[in-house]
Amino acid sequence: MIDFNGARVVYANGACALDGLDLEIAAGEMVVVVGLSGAGKSTLLRAVNGLVPLTSGDLRVAGRSVRQARGRALRLLRAEVGMIFQDFRLVRQLRVLDNVLVGRLARVAAWRSVIGAWPKHDVDLAFDALERVGLLARAYDRASQLSGGQQQRVGIARALAQQPSVILADEPVASLDPVTSKQVMDDLTRINRELGITTLVNLHDLDLATAYGERIVGLRAGKRVFDGPGAGVRAADFDRIYGRSAPSDDRQEARGER
Ligand SMILES: Nc1ncnc2c1ncn2[C@@H]1O[C@H](COP(=O)(O)OP(=O)(O)OP(=O)(O)O)[C@@H](O)[C@H]1O
Ligand SMILES: [Mg+2]
Repeated sequence: MIDFNGARVVYANGACALDGLDLEIAAGEMVVVVGLSGAGKSTLLRAVNGLVPLTSGDLRVAGRSVRQARGRALRLLRAEVGMIFQDFRLVRQLRVLDNVLVGRLARVAAWRSVIGAWPKHDVDLAFDALERVGLLARAYDRASQLSGGQQQRVGIARALAQQPSVILADEPVASLDPVTSKQVMDDLTRINRELGITTLVNLHDLDLATAYGERIVGLRAGKRVFDGPGAGVRAADFDRIYGRSAPSDDRQEARGER
């Protein structure tokens, strides 16, 4: 579904954010990307929907080369890719339902939504998406009346309403408390399993990443330095990803359990 091939991204200021990245992600996989601030996690995600252009190398999403995508091809690509943001990016004064319908804009002619004439099919999809995140009862509330965790679930529903092949979530729980973070990660995991949507999640928190990452990709300075199941992350891997030892694993090392 996603295939990075020697992908390099160098920003105009000379910062090299992806440094010859090779990474293949199969349809239906859920991958958690971890790494230090500045490792290139957001760049990796933005490259997938063509927001950040590759400087060299190649990237294919659902069989299409992102590098060559312009105009209509780029719009088609972006329609396949749903985004979830750290700061939710809801229109707070709009109803929850309308925020979810925004996800349909990638698929529906814009004039219809402007005059409020959403086809029934789209409204049905929006309700279905809200049901999947347990917020059907809040459809007619303003988004601003919801808690942070609920707002992020509306963000997930909006991505779902788009009927994407790929969901990208950039630090989706960084603004949430630990308990709410787990609930949102549970939602993402369940949706990945139920609908088989290929899901890429950036997380700062390695504990959360190892708990949810069936597959974890560790980035450091734009390179893949770890790729494996969350349960298999060892002290040496932590060191490779973060450039220092994990405090808890240090004790294991001292006991010779490594
Ligand atoms: N728009 C930009 N213009 C110039 N340089 C950028 C831009 N965006 C990111 N960078 C640089 O590219 C590198 C990777 O940044 P990126 O935002 O992808 O990292 P990240 O892993 O998402 O970090 P964080 O955990 O802080 O979100 C960094 O050196 C950063 O300074
Ligand atoms: Mg980032």
